[in-house]
Amino acid sequence: MKPLLEIKNITMKFGSLVANEDISFTVHENEIVSLIGPNGAGKTTLFNCITGFYRPFSGKVIYNGKDITRMTSYQICKLGITRTFQIVKTLNEMTVEENVMTGAFLHTNSRKKAEEIAKETLELTGLMPKKNVLGANLTIADRKRVEIARALATNPRILMLDECMAGLNQTEIKEVMDLCLKLKEKGLSLLIVEHIMEAIMPISDKVVVLNAGKKITEGNPQDVVNNDEVIKAYLGERYHAKSKKS
Ligand SMILES: Nc1ncnc2c1ncn2[C@@H]1O[C@H](COP(=O)(O)OP(=O)(O)OP(=O)(O)O)[C@@H](O)[C@H]1O
Ligand SMILES: [Mg+2]
Repeated sequence: MKPLLEIKNITMKFGSLVANEDISFTVHENEIVSLIGPNGAGKTTLFNCITGFYRPFSGKVIYNGKDITRMTSYQICKLGITRTFQIVKTLNEMTVEENVMTGAFLHTNSRKKAEEIAKETLELTGLMPKKNVLGANLTIADRKRVEIARALATNPRILMLDECMAGLNQTEIKEVMDLCLKLKEKGLSLLIVEHIMEAIMPISDKVVVLNAGKKITEGNPQDVVNNDEVIKAYLGERYHAKSKKS
């Protein structure tokens, strides 16, 4: 089967700093791929290259067979790739429902249609009871949920989540894990950046590991957890020992 998203030899530089160096991997339809690595590894930079926020120095991003490398974020979103932000960008003066409607307006000019899409999305993400709460009054967990809901309201085929579990408690993390699996069941592909290994290893089909701008390996979660280079660069012996016991 042809991949839905192909990251081909992406290199991104900031002056002399190489934030992404010759990164390649694929995301297939209906697949959950996680991108992990230490702080500063280049994960968010790669998200920005894929979604048109940065123009990579070299390399290509191919989506559904089409070269999207030079497209704007708006065009890329319209084609079906949506992302959330590591630093949440809630629209504070709008309600939860209105925040989600802004996503829906990508494909419609009708307020009624946007409200319908928002309703479905609020139900899917468990936000319905909070629909009239202002963005400014939300907890961090709800802000993150609103970000996901707003992204989903654009009706993506690929949802990219940048550390959407950071700062959440165990119950909230479990809710996001369940939502990711539910979205996969609905046919979406997910590309997830996350540091909470206990949360992403069980839900990932494939894990890609970056360190200091380079891809050090990719594979299924079990292989990646046992990879010496990954343990040395990122996971440490603590996680490795724990995962061996379980
Ligand atoms: N706009 C920018 N200008 C200059 N340097 C940048 C810029 N964005 C990122 N960098 C640098 O690129 C490198 C990769 O950063 P990036 O934010 O992609 O890492 P990350 O893997 O997302 O880290 P974290 O896990 O902390 O979020 C870092 O050294 C960072 O300082
Ligand atoms: Mg980051």
